Amino acid sequence: MRKFDTVLVTGGCGFIGTNFIKYIFDKTNYKIINIDALTYAGNIKNLIDIENKDRYFFERVNICDAKKVNSIFEKYKPDCIVHFAAESHVDRSIFGPKDFIDTNIIGTFTLLEAARNLWKDNANGKLFHHISTDEVYGSLSDTGYFYETTAYDPRSPYSASKASSDHIVKAYYHTYNLPVTISNCSNNYGPYQFPEKLIPLMISNIIEEKDLPVYGDGKNIRDWIFVEDHNNAVLDIIYKGRVGETYNIGGENEITNIDMVNILCEKLASKMNKDKDYYKRLIKFVKDRAGHDRRYAINCDKIKKELGWKRQYDFNTAIDITIDWYLNNKEWIYDVKSGEYQKWIELNYSNSL
Ligand code: NAD
Ligand code: TYD
Repeated sequence: MRKFDTVLVTGGCGFIGTNFIKYIFDKTNYKIINIDALTYAGNIKNLIDIENKDRYFFERVNICDAKKVNSIFEKYKPDCIVHFAAESHVDRSIFGPKDFIDTNIIGTFTLLEAARNLWKDNANGKLFHHISTDEVYGSLSDTGYFYETTAYDPRSPYSASKASSDHIVKAYYHTYNLPVTISNCSNNYGPYQFPEKLIPLMISNIIEEKDLPVYGDGKNIRDWIFVEDHNNAVLDIIYKGRVGETYNIGGENEITNIDMVNILCEKLASKMNKDKDYYKRLIKFVKDRAGHDRRYAINCDKIKKELGWKRQYDFNTAIDITIDWYLNNKEWIYDVKSGEYQKWIELNYSNSL
């Protein structure tokens, strides 16, 4: 079992990173360094509860900025890096791929170089954990699963940029013996997810009684996992994962998009004391996403058998936790959607990038 003193998290103000930092802050005594550029998807207010704690440090840094990244690495000397920072939304990657190439590929390369430099004399017990996605494996038809051995076949600029970063991470292991692990996870849901992804977008539109845009025939399938189960798996990997290995993480919970939207409509109707079908009138089938992957489904036997990981949450419980969080945090939704939050960042953090 590895032990660390200082864990550096990239992208800790985004959806999964925020949940990860809160989780390890509670569960460990690590010094935690959060580096994040605070793009539209990063919200520093998510971590307001711990911002003044003496073992938590925030640095506004773009991971493509080698000079700044190196100086942060020298300053804190992390012995573990957990790399979440990315451009993460497929639709945005279709309309503007460049940021995805920059952050996901060049940013990952920049971090790998900084880690190689920092640990050049002794990399024993150190670890660079790279967070990736099941989307690198491409699209499945009605049957079959993604295994760690499945050939990469990315289709969107997002998944291609993540696939590229995975390959570079693996190259640093084989070429330079950099101690790395990689995880490829299925679709996450939970608190703090930016309301552009399916679940929080639908919840926030239902709250506002706006249209619920379902792409194509709505029969595309995703394998949904609660964010805390993902983060628990990441902890298992950084403690016990074999260096150089990839671990798939999945929810074993395949749901079509239209079924998911119907579930959300019904659950919100019940919470808001409306008729069961009240919100379903908002569902609108719209033009399909370009190159829309049909089905994702993860086989995660490896992490279960090798590291003893298992999910703690069933879908019904975790989706209720998620919906309740958005219902109780309407101001957060307004802030990130309206641009108010970005204005606040520019006022308060404009000099620090
Ligand atoms: P997110 O978009 O919510 O957050 C990304 C974070 O990275 C933000 O805080 C943003 O400010 C930061 N960031 C972006 N560009 C940066 C840069 N150049 N320098 C520094 N910081 C930068 O993303 P998420 O959903 O939390 O995803 C986190 C990671 O998990 C990503 O690597 C993603 O590919 C992976 N992943 C996500 C899912 C999912 O369902 N959300 C599933 C599997 C894997
Ligand atoms: P998304 O949350 O963007 O995740 P990903 O594309 O990375 O899997 O989308 C999940 C599924 O929901 C995907 O099949 C696209 C679909 N979708 C819609 O039908 N309508 C929407 O408004 C969005 C954002 C997604």
